[in-house]
Amino acid sequence: MLNSNKKVLVYTLFVLSVSIAYFVYASIAYPPVSENESFLSEVGEGFGEIGLWLLLFIYARTVLKLMIRKGRLSSRILPEYFPSVGSSVINKLLCYLDRTHIYFGIAAVAVILLHIVLMGIPMDILFFPAVLILVVWQALFGLFLTWKYSPKQLKKLSYLVHAQFLTGIMLGIFSYFGHLLID
Ligand code: HEM
Repeated sequence: MLNSNKKVLVYTLFVLSVSIAYFVYASIAYPPVSENESFLSEVGEGFGEIGLWLLLFIYARTVLKLMIRKGRLSSRILPEYFPSVGSSVINKLLCYLDRTHIYFGIAAVAVILLHIVLMGIPMDILFFPAVLILVVWQALFGLFLTWKYSPKQLKKLSYLVHAQFLTGIMLGIFSYFGHLLID
């Protein structure tokens, strides 16, 4: 049986291999995308950078939790709640990050969507619709998690699909190769 770290590694390698294969196909099949230099695209570029930093910040919270053993890596694939441990400074920081996650999450979704709209990203390159779907997916299940009228079962499912690394790994790999194709 593979342990959880190996499963994440195998999953990452799988997504990476499929992405590389599609990257090679798309660089042959699609003509080079000419750079669209306008005021709006410059603003859009800025939003893209902010979005990247927000995602790094959001996932840093999960890494911090894993570092102080608030749940094993496997619990980020099938998340469970774990009692808090660690020094009080780190716990205070985590409390702050937990309380503010919704705002950072909404900001990340908003700036990534603005980035996509303002840059006029070519949606026929499949990396981009995939990123769009994943961001909307994160937002939707994040909302179900937050909404006090969500049925218990829906909340459970939402935690399962929202609070794991699998989406983050896909988001990172797809955006990286997508940008390589249009740069
Ligand atoms: C792209 C945007 C987002 C990403 C990448 C993201 C990622 C995550 C991750 C990785 C976790 C698990 C944290 C952990 O325990 O380690 C989480 C939890 C959670 N997220 Fe998000 N999230 C995003 C947007 C949102 C939005 C827009 C909302 C609500 C409107 C939201 C609400 C929640 C809630 C309620 C939890 C569970 C409690 C908690 O851990 O804070 N998220 N999110």
